[in-house]
Amino acid sequence: MNYPKNVKIVEVGPRDGLQNEKITVDLPTKIKLIHQLSETGLLNIEAGSFVSPKWVPQMANSDDLFQEINQNISPAFPQIQFSALTPNEKGFDRAIECGVKEVAIFAAATEQFSQKNINCSISESLERFAPLAEKAQSANVRIRGYVSCVLGCPYQGSVGTDEVLDVTKSLLDLGCYEVSLGDTIGIGTPGSTKDLLSALLPVIPAEQIALHMHDTYGQALANILIGLQMGISVIDSAVAGLGGCPYAKGASGNVSTEDVVYLLNGLDINHGLQLDKLIETGNGICAALGRSNGSKVARAMQP
Ligand code: HMG
Ligand code: MG
Repeated sequence: MNYPKNVKIVEVGPRDGLQNEKITVDLPTKIKLIHQLSETGLLNIEAGSFVSPKWVPQMANSDDLFQEINQNISPAFPQIQFSALTPNEKGFDRAIECGVKEVAIFAAATEQFSQKNINCSISESLERFAPLAEKAQSANVRIRGYVSCVLGCPYQGSVGTDEVLDVTKSLLDLGCYEVSLGDTIGIGTPGSTKDLLSALLPVIPAEQIALHMHDTYGQALANILIGLQMGISVIDSAVAGLGGCPYAKGASGNVSTEDVVYLLNGLDINHGLQLDKLIETGNGICAALGRSNGSKVARAMQP
């Protein structure tokens, strides 16, 4: 079996992990989480989002968060790319004002999820992203893309691989350097993951695809293993398995970073992360949120 030698992990805990938490997570807690994550060897941390605070109140303090990152965390960890989600030009302008150097735009494979999540159709969302992408290019800001509901939609049900391919291509055409395929409700299986990648990879190079697996049905690691076997080398995950989308009923946490690292260790794939520090970080944020740790590896390796 051919596995990639190196895998890039994109930590989405501070954004995807916290956006769905019912209790407001205060700024010091977020800063502590991001600081601790920065010490684990991660090179990519999605720290927040510049979405409407009416839609996702938990992310309302992303402006203050990024000021703090720029002043006190980035200087100590210059190798780390801290990124943020931006749904429109307004969000992009806020991000730029906060000195963000990488943003993510997010579209969906299904019309219904697009409407529920960002209040517009898929084509409207792509039109909305176009001026944002132009601004990003002239400001030298990198853009990553997301496609949600790639293996199933909470509203539409099953999703065709063509629907995913179309949106993925559109995001790449807009200038995204990479598109992350979101199994938003964690419904995919190794079989459906293989079918999806088999449809995409003849058209899109594996280097431009990342996997973003939620773990609702406990399939995320198995799906990631299929992805690795098919040449994917970028994996999104959240420390302690935090996460979910407020607009996807039943969506549970992301695959946990600790579990992905354990999987990669077992395959001798380089990732650059320190598992003990990740576990400590996951335990810390879970204590702050008053929830149990969603990482099986963290639970098994409790001191
Ligand atoms: P809308 O209501 O259609 O927007 O929302 P609008 O343009 O009509 O504006 C309404 C109000 O929001 C206005 O304020 C705007 O100024 C303000 P008002 O005049 O009423 O006082 N507004 C903003 N304020 C701050 N920042 C902004 C912004 N934009 C408008 N950027 C909108 C459309 C896209 C804004 C909204 O639907 C939204 O924010 N949606 C975000 C939902 C979200 O964050 N979902 C979770 C992230 S996606 C995800 O988790 C999936 C992923 O993990 C992958 C996967 O798992 O599949 C990425
Ligand atoms: Mg997600």
